[in-house]
Amino acid sequence: MRLLYLVSALACVAPAVATIWENGQKRLNPYPPTGQATALPTPIKTTDVGWRTYDASAPEIGYKGRWCSRRISWWAAPGVKFRYTGSKVAITFGENTSNNVLLSWRVSGLPWNFANVTANRSYQFVSETTQGLQAGQETIFEFHVTNWALGVQMKAVHVAAGFAISSVPNYSRKIEMIGDSLTVGYTGTYEAMSGIGWSLCEGLGNVEYSLVAYKLCYGSTRGQLFQWQQASDSGVRAQQVYGSNPAPWNFTTTQPADLVIINLGTNDINYKQGTTAVPESTFQQNYIQLINDVRSKYPRAQIIAVQFWNGYTRSGNTYRQNPNRYQTAIQNAVNYFRNGGNNNVYYFDTTGILQFGDINPKGHPTDVGYIKIAAHLMQFISIRLGWSLGNTGQEVHSQAMYYNDNTSI
Ligand SMILES: *[C@@H]1O[C@H](CO)[C@@H](O)[C@H](O)[C@H]1NC(C)=O
Ligand SMILES: *[C@@H]1O[C@H](CO)[C@@H](O)[C@H](O)[C@H]1NC(C)=O
Ligand SMILES: *[C@@H]1O[C@H](CO)[C@@H](O)[C@H](O)[C@H]1NC(C)=O
Ligand SMILES: *[C@@H]1O[C@H](CO)[C@@H](O)[C@H](O)[C@H]1NC(C)=O
Ligand SMILES: *[C@@H]1O[C@H](CO)[C@@H](O)[C@H](O)[C@H]1NC(C)=O
Repeated sequence: MRLLYLVSALACVAPAVATIWENGQKRLNPYPPTGQATALPTPIKTTDVGWRTYDASAPEIGYKGRWCSRRISWWAAPGVKFRYTGSKVAITFGENTSNNVLLSWRVSGLPWNFANVTANRSYQFVSETTQGLQAGQETIFEFHVTNWALGVQMKAVHVAAGFAISSVPNYSRKIEMIGDSLTVGYTGTYEAMSGIGWSLCEGLGNVEYSLVAYKLCYGSTRGQLFQWQQASDSGVRAQQVYGSNPAPWNFTTTQPADLVIINLGTNDINYKQGTTAVPESTFQQNYIQLINDVRSKYPRAQIIAVQFWNGYTRSGNTYRQNPNRYQTAIQNAVNYFRNGGNNNVYYFDTTGILQFGDINPKGHPTDVGYIKIAAHLMQFISIRLGWSLGNTGQEVHSQAMYYNDNTSI
């Protein structure tokens, strides 16, 4: 986690290259070729016969997560979802799309596929051979950006001439997660798609979600409160587009969150203003301010403050979890509200959920570690808030079928 600032700064310029490791061995086929979208030789034009084109601003296109008014998102797992007819779906990506950015995409509830896309090009995702289209079945196309800190700009959606797209109703509940690399699955196999945010929200199913997660922390430039209020993230590219005046996120015109999960603090441990790390009291004060602001934007929302962890160390002939950081500050912030009669603010203690082997060599949880945190949170939400688990059985994690074929007994 210490490398976070450096790595995310480099990610702005470096093309996405990653090796996926499984217990020290390279994953053989990390991106199944069947999922790749076909890059068309030239971008589709509105006048092209054979295609019907919708501009990125078409109301039929459902944008998931936070996108700015230019239809760019570099937040975590931003997505696009719409219903379509016919047997072709293509998308044209705008000039501010990252180079070779990895998307996960699917048709309705079928397994996730992976495709890499680049700026200024049209990609055909769905064709006659894509599974999922049979007479009488409805077909929904959906993609999410899965690379950490990379993103796309939507330019247009295309379907076969004579066919159409239409909107998919939103789920009635929405989760918003305010977090950092832990929420977005930094160094997870498929990054955002392997993180706590995705594992929790896709795993829970039946919810809209927005992962307002980047390298957020109180100590960073302009602080987490400011960052949370903006449509764009706080990265270098967003600054190139918006300068020092990013557009505020419009909380009044978007579906309000019913549940807000805050998982912050990891980046504050090491963040120094001058020579001083963010002190407990400052952290606590700002945590309270953030919760206050969340409550003013989403008066009905339940809020969960997640205790982050601080690694595991060999101690003699065993391993021990390192002491939690900012634990008193987070608990005090939660109790400030609970003691004031606001019982919809909760503290979620992660102590004991992870073990030393759940942390990867890059200082972040492995996929298993991320899923463990998400699964415990899911039960907390189910038991304490009474939400039902709504995923009817669709895949959440791709390439996660680890098993043993010994059936001899
Ligand atoms: C897609 O992007 C990933 C990085 O996220 C990269 O490792 C992979 O090689 C790319 N695949 C192709 C086919 O370019
Ligand atoms: C995309 O198109 C814009 C405008 O024509 C151009 O400035 C930019 O260099 C192009 N980017 C890529 C990656 O081709
Ligand atoms: C892409 O970003 C640049 C700033 O880096 C901006 O000048 C340009 O207008 C953006 N293009 C679009 C289509 O939004
Ligand atoms: C949000 O949208 C509403 C309705 O369109 C508008 O009145 C308001 O000014 C917008 N707020 C911001 C901060 O853009
Ligand atoms: C879903 O919610 C978003 C705002 O969060 C809104 O823009 C969109 O129109 C809604 N979709 C439908 C189909 O109601």
